[in-house]
Amino acid sequence: MCGIVGYTGKSDALSPVLEGLRRLEYRGYDSAGIALPTQPGEKLWIEKRSGKLGNLEGVLGDAVPKSHSGIGHTRWATHGGPTDKNAHPHVDNEGKLALIHNGIIENYVELRNELEKRGHVFTSETDTESVVHLLSDARKSHNGDLAAAMRDVCKELRGSFTLLAIHSDDPERIVGARRNSPLVVGVGDGENFLASDVAAFISHTKRALELGQDEVVDITPLSITVTDLNGAVLPHNEYEISWDASAAERGGFPHFMLKEIYEQPKAVADTLIGRTHGLSEEITAGIDLKAITKVVIIACGTAYHAGMVGKYAIERWADVSVDVELASEYRYREPSIDKNTLVIPISQSGETMDTLMALRYAKSHGAKIFSVCNTNGSTIPRESDGVLYTFAGPEIAVASTKAFLTQLVAMYLFALHMGRVRGTLSPELDAQLAQEIAELPGKIEQVLETVEPLRELTRKFKDSTSMLFLGRHVGYPTALEGALKLKELAYMHAEGFAGGELKHGPIALIDEGTPVIAIMPTENSLLNEKMASNVQEVKARGAIVIAIGDADLPSATHNIRIPHTHEFLQPVLAVVPLQVIAYEMAVARGNDVDQPRNLAKSVTVE
Ligand code: AGP
Repeated sequence: MCGIVGYTGKSDALSPVLEGLRRLEYRGYDSAGIALPTQPGEKLWIEKRSGKLGNLEGVLGDAVPKSHSGIGHTRWATHGGPTDKNAHPHVDNEGKLALIHNGIIENYVELRNELEKRGHVFTSETDTESVVHLLSDARKSHNGDLAAAMRDVCKELRGSFTLLAIHSDDPERIVGARRNSPLVVGVGDGENFLASDVAAFISHTKRALELGQDEVVDITPLSITVTDLNGAVLPHNEYEISWDASAAERGGFPHFMLKEIYEQPKAVADTLIGRTHGLSEEITAGIDLKAITKVVIIACGTAYHAGMVGKYAIERWADVSVDVELASEYRYREPSIDKNTLVIPISQSGETMDTLMALRYAKSHGAKIFSVCNTNGSTIPRESDGVLYTFAGPEIAVASTKAFLTQLVAMYLFALHMGRVRGTLSPELDAQLAQEIAELPGKIEQVLETVEPLRELTRKFKDSTSMLFLGRHVGYPTALEGALKLKELAYMHAEGFAGGELKHGPIALIDEGTPVIAIMPTENSLLNEKMASNVQEVKARGAIVIAIGDADLPSATHNIRIPHTHEFLQPVLAVVPLQVIAYEMAVARGNDVDQPRNLAKSVTVE
């Protein structure tokens, strides 16, 4: 996600734009930039810096020209590392048109090839820059009508986008557009705002307009025009913002964690863009997947649990042996590694020292490294032979939720890719999985629509001293993840077990009223029957069982239903109720949900 701000009105634009960026910096902080029109027809004044917004503010000084309009951007890098050159705004070759973007342009390469043939000179590695050059040509063909040009450009784009553009020939005007990415209008008195969320302008006005899919908005200090992509003017749906400024930064949610739980459908959808039917061959260029005889996944915490699920998928679909190792343990046992070992570090931050040190150890012993990471340009992908980025957006809450789901999806995508390359995946299964994976965002949405009763049920266990999680097969790492969430958020003892392991000791933990969460394998599977037996065993000893599955379990005390999906994909859906349970328990216990005690978002020490 990126922070997007536009201002046009009676004030000097620098202040409202910078203030807006500060309030949106949580959305992305790899780089920041501003574009201001100075004199009509002259080059725009542009300043942009990698790093946090403070880096940009530190170079602004008194040299910033006065301007009554401007656009600003804080970036969370997707295509192209977090550098000055890749920072937004991007400009056309005349320097008079500036554009900022949030989202992913799926067809940017083909657009760039065509635009370079037309003589446009590119200066960045971003997908966004293709749009500003396309817009420049479209504007010329519409005799300078920026809104008409924007409408044409949007018809050529595939992917998700929030776009803002400004041209020095018409300095008071800012034109925006959106598809699958947020854009709201702030309605002021003699001034108007555009932003990726209301937090950017809430201190100036609480009057806002939501924009719909594929709509173009054209603002000046005294006018707001909204059209569809064919130019038909659409009615304004103005509303009053009911939040205060701090709540607005969380999109109206009480905590970032809950916001990020609800962002999971989009995080998975963004991670799947252009990939559902296969990863491009070059993503593993330099790695001979057919020669690989062993895969080793290394990770920590939640990322480790994603790796455990990945093991099932890679072993079954790519027919290769997979070990999953705690990164902090891996190198100290001096494992056997050779040139046919593929090591897969999984890391949201890309900076976890345990994982980085394990990567370096494996690399020094000849392994190929293919990482899964959510942070473009971070250390782990930089030291890898290949990387599969997830597009969860910045994850602010320390407890990982949306990043975890995108790590699971990345594992599935990689497993399918490796299976295709090695010829171990039947076309029928390939097609079935591709379809089931594509349906995940919608199914996550369905789960989120049913979690309210679970929040109330969870509060009944507020004073419990322990909670156990049972799962089998891919449900076992799901159980471990549910237990980790509860530990780190509710500071409650919690433990995940393989269902079959219970009878070998842990069942002694069951007491009258012990809450047990049972992650049920998909209906009619053999493992479902075995988990049902495990539930009977704990119920017989007084446990209260909450069963999560695609069918009700008659013996459970409570049932949480999730949609059916392929058995390997079920963790993506089953973990969402577990996240909600942990969240609700933390709130009920008055804990700091977004920054739990003793924890850090990225552990950069061993
Ligand atoms: C997850 O809720 C935790 N915050 C933690 O376990 C985290 O997953 C782990 O530290 C790994 O972080 P990384 O994905 O950034 O490498």
